[in-house]
Amino acid sequence: MSILDIRVLGDPILRQSTVPVQEITDELRTLVADMFETMHHARGIGLAAPQVGRTERLAVIEIDGEPLVVINPEILERSGKAKAEEGCLSIPDIYADVERPKDVVVRAMDLDGNTYEVQATELLARCLQHEIDHLDGKLFLDYLSVLKRTAALTKWKLQQDKYPGFIRHTALETPEERERHKHPEEEL
Ligand code: NI
Repeated sequence: MSILDIRVLGDPILRQSTVPVQEITDELRTLVADMFETMHHARGIGLAAPQVGRTERLAVIEIDGEPLVVINPEILERSGKAKAEEGCLSIPDIYADVERPKDVVVRAMDLDGNTYEVQATELLARCLQHEIDHLDGKLFLDYLSVLKRTAALTKWKLQQDKYPGFIRHTALETPEERERHKHPEEEL
């Protein structure tokens, strides 16, 4: 397994749509394992393929020690509303409140090629929506008001020079850097 570089805000791949997975191959299994390792290393709870420079329609999530592989996901139902702070491994150190449906039903495929449905609420529902957004080229900043988005982008511009080529060399980050990125509201 290996820790992959994470693409940060500004890399065009974060704005592209992904391609549905047609077949579970060994290469795909390796990618999923690498994405879990990368997410753990970066202290995140969710990571989508475009964030590691890939175009497959898949994401990994791990909340409370429960790993979830989400391949070709679609949201079947949305209900309620909830607001909570979000962050993103591709936009380090930027956090903002985002309002989303509180509950969702998602259909996806696992690594064995089996289709499953998950009824999610609270953090898992938020994380699934955030990751599925990534697969559609969407970022949590898109939900902010113009004022709040401008403020977030201004803060981001002050530190984006730390990521030449829009690449975050996750494996090279020191424990101090990773601690600094850690935030009470986990990053997705
Ligand atoms: Ni994210």
